[in-house]
Amino acid sequence: MTRRFTGIIKAILLAGIITSIITTGPLLGGKTGSFRFVFMADIHVMPELRGAEGFAAAISAVNKLDPDFVITGGDLIYDALETSYERADLLYDMYQELCEAFEMPVHHTIGNHEIFGLYPGSGIDPAHPEFGRKMFAKRLGRGSTNSSFDFEGWHFILLDTIGLTGNRSYYGHVSPGSLEWLARDLEKTPSDSPIVLCVHIPLVSPSLQVDYGLAEGVPHNLMVTNTPEVLAAFEGRDLRLVLQGHLHIVEQAQVKGTKFVTGGAVSAAWWKGPYKGFPEGFVVIDVKDGAIDYHYEDYGWQAGE
Ligand SMILES: [Fe+2]
Repeated sequence: MTRRFTGIIKAILLAGIITSIITTGPLLGGKTGSFRFVFMADIHVMPELRGAEGFAAAISAVNKLDPDFVITGGDLIYDALETSYERADLLYDMYQELCEAFEMPVHHTIGNHEIFGLYPGSGIDPAHPEFGRKMFAKRLGRGSTNSSFDFEGWHFILLDTIGLTGNRSYYGHVSPGSLEWLARDLEKTPSDSPIVLCVHIPLVSPSLQVDYGLAEGVPHNLMVTNTPEVLAAFEGRDLRLVLQGHLHIVEQAQVKGTKFVTGGAVSAAWWKGPYKGFPEGFVVIDVKDGAIDYHYEDYGWQAGE
């Protein structure tokens, strides 16, 4: 049994979903268009544990698959939350330099580990010019932590799902400002455009429901706490696919016409090998005549060499 196949079986067991994790089958009909893109979650670039080499290997595997573009799913580096400016600066530079090897456009989603100096242990003054989201916005987000683009009649949204607490920590939350940005973005989008939404902290996760149950509840740092508010913004829209990160596992759920896929991790267990049975990998999405097909691609990285 290949590692990839093993990962798929585990995903099905974890998510409690009977349908195939490989083929989603035709979703709602509508626009045509055939293209391929890749979603790379939880890269966690770092100089230690051969983390930079691992990302370079993943990029070279992506280039061979020849997608039209790549979307990264947050937690791009490890780590800006609790570190000095020098280390955060080095990690952002390292990530950006490695990304130059992509032979296609790359769009970046913000994760919790990109929030600079948030934890008091970092010793960073909140008055620092790159404090918090500003470092990502300046270096990777063209001034924002939310972005969108169009491709072949489809609309792609990269939404900031990192909420900040009053005591310098984070939780899963889409802020009022981001919701306003989203409403404005959707206003400009034709109502019949198929939409793909990319987030770091998941909006929906069957595995978290299985792990924690209703009585205990899902910890607020693992899942978005205002999912109903976020999904309400897509009411009447053709939201086909939500790609999510943060959990380092592969799972899927379907609510009406929307498929939610948590896309594993390029770094698996933070470059220490497979995490909960899931190897280092990324999601390859093929859109064919308006239908979505996807699989988790194990790019063959072996940690600890
Ligand atoms: Fe992560």
